[in-house]
Amino acid sequence: MTKLIDLKKNDNIEECAKCIKNGGVMIFPTETVYGIGTNALDKEAVDKIFTVKGRKSDNPLIVLVSNTIMLDKIVSNINEIHRKLIENFWPGPLTIIFDKKDVLPENVTGGFDTVGVRIPGNSLTRKIIEKIGVPITAPSANISGKLSIIDASIAYREFNGKVDYIIDGGLSDIGIESTIVKVEDGIVKILRCGSILKEDIEKLGIEVEFSSIPSRNNKHYDIESDAIVVTVEDKDIIHKIDEYISNNTDKKIGIIGSCKNYDVFSSRVDKYIKFDEDNIMKNLYNILNEAKEADIDVFLIESVKNTNESQVIMNKLMQVSNNKII
Ligand code: TXA
Ligand code: MG
Repeated sequence: MTKLIDLKKNDNIEECAKCIKNGGVMIFPTETVYGIGTNALDKEAVDKIFTVKGRKSDNPLIVLVSNTIMLDKIVSNINEIHRKLIENFWPGPLTIIFDKKDVLPENVTGGFDTVGVRIPGNSLTRKIIEKIGVPITAPSANISGKLSIIDASIAYREFNGKVDYIIDGGLSDIGIESTIVKVEDGIVKILRCGSILKEDIEKLGIEVEFSSIPSRNNKHYDIESDAIVVTVEDKDIIHKIDEYISNNTDKKIGIIGSCKNYDVFSSRVDKYIKFDEDNIMKNLYNILNEAKEADIDVFLIESVKNTNESQVIMNKLMQVSNNKII
């Protein structure tokens, strides 16, 4: 049976911590998205995570620690650049790939000799890890190929009966997964974009390049209908969407768009999901979930461009649309 813990009500986590240390499985909050946690040093416990998530065993899990002493126990060869990243971005949403030590069972990293680690920014998450006393696994709390979860009630719907504990810590503050980086030949390679941007790292005087995750799961942003990003200048967006609607009267069309275009299009399409450009990162998975649940053939998604976060949001939107644009 799955037990629920509500951190807002100060529910006691002692019993949960003991269970996880001994190989139990929990859904827990972080500042990025909810994660699936167990004792990362326990091979059999780690196997359960792959089963619960329906994840292929060669797709590595990332690991969370609550301090750098715990980090030193599981990774080796920490260099100058790693240290700079740690000092500037931890605790926080930056996962760094390190060489792994043998204490970490092989199944955690899917056979890779490296492991992605971070100290999470959410202090409640750090407190949970401290109580457990060992590094914990932290893949996003979604069945493989489904959208990530930022809200415990959705976690409950998907995972009730499948895990020992679900810990409700409220909505995730950031709302998208951590930025993942790897240091190679003195250069920081961004394997996955998150809220820590290329420029944030460059400010430290480090060279940064975009790269990609080796075993990329492209279905991660699947909203179960077609999607097209409308990437044009502001004044043309209305014209482009208008043209698409007129030429596709046989389709059920939805729009994920700005508040300002709601009045223009909401009565002409089957679903209009509004976003507020200043808050889109935090709400991205709610928006995508709403889109997934709607019975629509194709979603037109307005591009975003006016905030610091535009670059990372556009990266995610292009994955939602499988790079389809008009
Ligand atoms: O914000 C986050 O990072 C969330 C929270 C819950 O911690 N977790 C998360 O985990 O997004 P996951 O498993 O959904 O995504 C981690 C990605 C996967 O695509 C995996 O293939 C990649 O990181 N990855 C993990 N270890 C790696 C490694 N050693 N080298 C390269 N890529 C790695
Ligand atoms: Mg994930």
